[in-house]
Amino acid sequence: MPAVVIVGGFFGDEGKGKIVSYIGLKDKVHTAVRGGVGPNAGHTVIYQGKTYKLRMLPSAIIGENTRLMLGAGVLVNPSVLLDEVDKYDVWSRTMVDQMACIIEEKHLSADKSGHLKEMIGTTGTGTGPANADRVLRIAKLAKDEPRLKGLIGDVAEEVNKVVDSRKRLLVEGTQGTFLSLYHGTYPYVTSKDVTASAICSDVGLGPKKVDEVVMVCKSYVTRVGAGPMEGEMSLEDAQKKGWQEFGTVTGRPRRAAPFSIKLAKRAAMLNSATSIAITKFDILFPETANETDYAKLPAHAKRFVEEIEGEIGIPVTLIGTGAEVDSTIDRRRN
Ligand code: IMP
Ligand code: MG
Repeated sequence: MPAVVIVGGFFGDEGKGKIVSYIGLKDKVHTAVRGGVGPNAGHTVIYQGKTYKLRMLPSAIIGENTRLMLGAGVLVNPSVLLDEVDKYDVWSRTMVDQMACIIEEKHLSADKSGHLKEMIGTTGTGTGPANADRVLRIAKLAKDEPRLKGLIGDVAEEVNKVVDSRKRLLVEGTQGTFLSLYHGTYPYVTSKDVTASAICSDVGLGPKKVDEVVMVCKSYVTRVGAGPMEGEMSLEDAQKKGWQEFGTVTGRPRRAAPFSIKLAKRAAMLNSATSIAITKFDILFPETANETDYAKLPAHAKRFVEEIEGEIGIPVTLIGTGAEVDSTIDRRRN
């Protein structure tokens, strides 16, 4: 394994947190590093009855010895990060790259009005305005933020050392492929590229150091905010299917559509995915809830998986069958 990159295959909210935490734990990952935009709309990790709500820290937090890092490309909201570091008591294993940039109060307010709110429907976390300041070269660096003293380091050097010494590195992306500034449904996108190459660049890892790219797709597609979405159903129909979800942070209802082979195929290409993880399988096939053995799935559920493998040409290695980290079918060693 040494370096595995995990990215979202649709529009975010694919359940990456669950897959990241599962791999982090099972593979005893040495270091988990986050690339991506900045605070996400909220990853939920449920392990041994305990619920972790994470917006800044890597979701591999449940591995007790796993080091937790944020790459230079990431935008840091110091109060959100420090709350999580305190709450989960991970001061000694957290590091923020010195060159990461800071989300300031002015970015938060600029993200809550005007075209970003009205036209794009952003999450209001200040990331777009902060990245704009970064491009203008007037953003504040993490190393100049007094509140982050004690967490600052050279993450790029650390992650390269991990890979060079053949220890396990997990690189965690945020948002999803079609929210990418370059490859998504522009202008209804986030403020930077979020495909696998960009996530690696965020943490300072070159393309030759990556072994695997796991693309996470939910069993159906959801999207929050504005922008095109093929196959979108009415909120009522989504509700009937049990696909109606609400944004973890914003509380906004998520729009829903059936699983899209077309999107998954394009996302696999854009990310050079080597395998697929499918989440919320138990929502699509309730009889599979908490199953951990692929052989025990009903034929129609297996057909769904095998059709995806046939169409995209890469294996579906992980299948999430419940909210708990352990509710996972792992076909990697079969
Ligand atoms: P921004 O990233 O907050 O600027 O929002 C840009 C677009 O990406 C909006 O459509 C958001 O709803 C969407 N988006 C941003 N972050 C997330 C996320 O974590 N999950 C789902 N959608 C997101
Ligand atoms: Mg999310």
